[in-house]
Amino acid sequence: MSIRYDEANRIFELDTRNTSYRIGIVDEEGFVGHIYYGQKIRPQKCDQFLRTCEAPFVPSKNNRERCSFMDTFPTEYSGNGIGDYRESCIAVKTANGSRTVDLKFVDYDIVNGKPGISGLPASFAGEEEVQTLVVHMMDGGCGIDVDLIYSVFEDENVITRSVSVKNAGDRDIRLTKVYSACIDMDDEDFEMLTLHGSWARERQIERRPIAYGKQSVSSLRGESSHQDHPFMAWMTKGTDQTTGDVYGMHFVYSGNFIAQIEKSQFDSIRAVMGIHSEGFEWWLTPGETFTAPEVVLTYSHDGLGQMTRNLHDFYRCHMIRSRYLHQKRPVLINNWEATYFDFDTDKLLAIAKSAAEHGIEMLVMDDGWFGHRNDDATSLGDWFVNENKIKGGLKHLVDEVNKLGLKFGIWMEPEMISPDSELYRKHPDWAFAVPERTATLSRNQYVLDLSRKEVRDYVYECVHNVISSANIEYVKWDMNRQLTDIGRGDRQGELAHRDVLGVYELQERLVNDFPDLLLENCSGGGARFDPGMLYYSPQIWCSDDTDAIERLSIQEGTELIYPLSTMGAHVSDCPNHTVGRSTPFMTRAHVALAGTFGYELDITKISEEERAMIPEQVSMYHKYNDLVREGDYYRVASYRENGLYDCWMVVAKDKSEALVTYVQVLGRPNVHSRKIKLLGLDVATDYRLDGTEKVYGGDLLMNAGMLIETMRGDYMSRLYHFVLDNSLT
Ligand code: DGJ
Repeated sequence: MSIRYDEANRIFELDTRNTSYRIGIVDEEGFVGHIYYGQKIRPQKCDQFLRTCEAPFVPSKNNRERCSFMDTFPTEYSGNGIGDYRESCIAVKTANGSRTVDLKFVDYDIVNGKPGISGLPASFAGEEEVQTLVVHMMDGGCGIDVDLIYSVFEDENVITRSVSVKNAGDRDIRLTKVYSACIDMDDEDFEMLTLHGSWARERQIERRPIAYGKQSVSSLRGESSHQDHPFMAWMTKGTDQTTGDVYGMHFVYSGNFIAQIEKSQFDSIRAVMGIHSEGFEWWLTPGETFTAPEVVLTYSHDGLGQMTRNLHDFYRCHMIRSRYLHQKRPVLINNWEATYFDFDTDKLLAIAKSAAEHGIEMLVMDDGWFGHRNDDATSLGDWFVNENKIKGGLKHLVDEVNKLGLKFGIWMEPEMISPDSELYRKHPDWAFAVPERTATLSRNQYVLDLSRKEVRDYVYECVHNVISSANIEYVKWDMNRQLTDIGRGDRQGELAHRDVLGVYELQERLVNDFPDLLLENCSGGGARFDPGMLYYSPQIWCSDDTDAIERLSIQEGTELIYPLSTMGAHVSDCPNHTVGRSTPFMTRAHVALAGTFGYELDITKISEEERAMIPEQVSMYHKYNDLVREGDYYRVASYRENGLYDCWMVVAKDKSEALVTYVQVLGRPNVHSRKIKLLGLDVATDYRLDGTEKVYGGDLLMNAGMLIETMRGDYMSRLYHFVLDNSLT
């Protein structure tokens, strides 16, 4: 049992394998307070940490200073406008114009299993794996019932949270803010870690001290975004991969969000996460309920590395539904960087033919095959094949590709509409726009208003028709601009969230109707790489920057919280199209092997020498992918930190093998070989360096390290594969 209620002390005890979370009910009024989250403790009375005995903060015994109590009490979910001046979690506009919320404990339920959240992606688990606590609260004043929902994933050391709000009164109300989670705790000189970025520079790790006041990352772009990521961690100073206390908080949502930490006058912190309240409104008629998206919480006493592995295991076991999750994905070749918009059937078949001869398993036709699209200015919404380019039609092309022994995949961008399209000429009002204002173009396109059912139905019919028209086994679902001009109708505050719900509905229909389809999400590179999208697709395109060296920090930030199996990574041509850098072909492959692996180049045009390396690279993928996909990830060294080299490794769950990837970013003259201390091996096991007779103890490799041969040149890389051996013992 992972959840208990200690009735005598009025404490909820939530325990995972290594962590504990404690919630206390205080006073006859029923304040719900946060007592503890951290390393596992035994069940015991521990409500002293609510500090309700410290004058002047005793609510019922010192009503004169109630405001001081409200402003310092470590709450599980902050109300609004009643004395807690820190960040509120909820705001409600009632019929009489009031906005205050004062939530009090009513009752609780503990149930087996993990309830889903209607219309939203959410983690799942069997009845025997997980327990869920629902803390029922209410505010009779504004007429709402609020449930705080906690599910405890023992094995993965994860607790998920979400919140539902019901209009329990008899008049309409408007929610103007509903965060999904709040944690108050004493500051321990924590640092905050977030992931910032831009197009082609996604998920760069950033650490900063936590100062008094509020520090946050957020998106108001209608998607989780390149710029900020719906994740934050806070951790004790000096935390590294193996030591330090780390709290991670991750949002299962793909739209506007806020992740914020606030340090108070009394040196406590409040961490909140949820849908951003700016512009948000949600109408509730009597009896209606709004449920906020899920937040994933994890705690590690052993540094960032353990936080990473908790999240990797959690997403692999409880978020990604695709049947491809535990399968090797076909090695694909995508024609985007090979041809951009300039392709036809002959060109694609020439690429497919050579790809097949070199062991590649799937051709993906990217942007430009539909309407009359020859650049990014037209045709989004017109999902019928351009027979001037795809001569003989889509089915003919797919059949020919299949005859060559390759699977076929296709690119679509269903959420968009070009002003120059048949769809726009017919339904100009289907695009997000403010009446009497010219909507803002981005990449020459507008966003379809997916809050409207007729728009969703049209979009879905198009996607369905394309996929059913030929043997299409993979779809890359792209989204190449962020939302603006959300302003039509009388419930505009709902539109941004309804748009996200619309995307989820479309993808839900897609994966239900085509369970064997391999879906890869994408958004101008990796602008919608989030746990919400992983619920639908087992992999997401990580970044449009395919340069092996730029990818080191992009992939490091991505791997910090997402399993390697989810990370779209391809080998592209040089000089790299984004940064103009040239790197060795093998280094590009070694870096891409950390993800789903594929090619993004014109195989008919690269040098003979590089082409000849492809079969070897494909066989490396087949040899290592089971390990990379299913194993435990360890970050050994970061080029971002040391400026010279990068190193990560994946260790099999049973410790029977490990793959170390080392990238020497910059060569240096006249130096010793570099010593690297490996992580995660079994100290009592001997490992042989695959392909050699060299045998090392796991204890030696981890404590003394291994020597990396000095390589001549920049951007060089090596893979080291260690397998079990017992010749030392
Ligand atoms: C952005 C994607 O990230 C690219 O891979 C490519 O599909 C383009 N869109 C096509 O427009």
